[in-house]
Order: sequence, then C-alpha cells, then structure tokens
Amino acid sequence: MLNTKTKGLLALVTVVVCVSLAFAFMVNRASAHKVAHDSETLQAFTDAFMEQVIRGDNLFHGGTEPGINLSNTGMACAMCHPFSSDIHPHEFPKFQEQMSEFATLRDMINWCIEKPNEGEIIDPDGEQMKALEAYMYWSNRGSVLDPGRH
Ligand code: HEC
Repeated sequence: MLNTKTKGLLALVTVVVCVSLAFAFMVNRASAHKVAHDSETLQAFTDAFMEQVIRGDNLFHGGTEPGINLSNTGMACAMCHPFSSDIHPHEFPKFQEQMSEFATLRDMINWCIEKPNEGEIIDPDGEQMKALEAYMYWSNRGSVLDPGRH
C-alpha cells in the first residue's frame, strides 16, 4: 500500500506531466502556423494579389481578354454593380433565388455573365474567374463573413 505522502507526490507528478504536454502541444501548434515573413516577401505577396485585383477590375469594367466574352449587350458588370456594390461576396455560398439552387460566388458570376450579360460563361477555375473574384473581395474588404445570408 502507498502511503499518503507517496500518493500526493504521484498526483503532483501526473499534473506536472499533463500540463507540460498540453503546453508543448500548444506551442508546437502555434509555431507551425507562425512562420514570419520578411517585409520583402510580404510585399511580393501583396503585389501578386493586387495584380489580380487590377486584372479583375478591368474585366469588371468592360475590359476583355482573348478567349472570353463576358457580355453581348454592351453592359459591363460595373454598370449594374457600381464600385462592385450589391454583389455581397461575403454572403456566399447561399441558396440563390435566381438560380433556384445552392450557389457559390463563382456560380453567381457565371449566372450574371449568361443571363443579364448574355455572354459566354467562363471556366470556374480559370484565371479570369480568379481575377474577378479577387477584385470583388477586395472591393468589399472589411465585410464580415456571413455565409448563407440574404
Ligand atoms: C444588367 C444588369 C447586370 C449586369 C450587367 C450584371 N449583373 Fe450581377 N446582378 C444583376 C441582378 C439583377 C442580380 C440579382 C440581384 C439580387 O440578387 O438581388 C445580380 C446579382 C449579382 C451577384 C449576386 C448578388 C447577391 O448578393 O446575391 C453577383 C455576384 C453578381 N451579380 C456579379 C456580376 C458580375 C461579375 C457581372 C459581370 C460579369 C454582373 N454581375 C453583371 C444584374 C446585373
């Protein structure tokens, strides 16, 4: 039989081991996601992002690129959505009434290309779709994520 002192000591050792393990796990998790980037690298990331925003801005305002036709009506996205307004990228995915189905932002971009614009839908994973998405999110930065909202 263990005496009271030994039992107490065992309990203390168990607590210390558990706390240390939990702490070590937390530190490892945190460090795995916290690789610090130097300012030059951060600038390169921002430049790469803004390049896509500018490309999307151009497409949104009626610019074209080879191989795509976003509109056959002469209307650009920006004519109905000035300053990228009323597109609510932070509310997607959601059930979309116009399509009668659950839709992502990319589905909705293609809906507007096909319906109001009477253009030709673009590859959902293509470069132009990514650029349009970048511009639309950038224009609505600061909005609180609220998927499913109407
Ligand atoms: C002729 C006007 C018109 C043009 C041009 C137009 N849209 Fe729309 N757009 C609409 C209408 C109408 C809706 C549906 C409004 C609603 O959901 O309340 C809509 C909705 C959207 C939505 C979803 C908004 C939401 O919250 O559900 C997105 C995203 C969108 N448009 C993107 C685009 C993009 C990208 C283009 C250009 C390729 C474009 N639109 C061009 C009229 C237009």
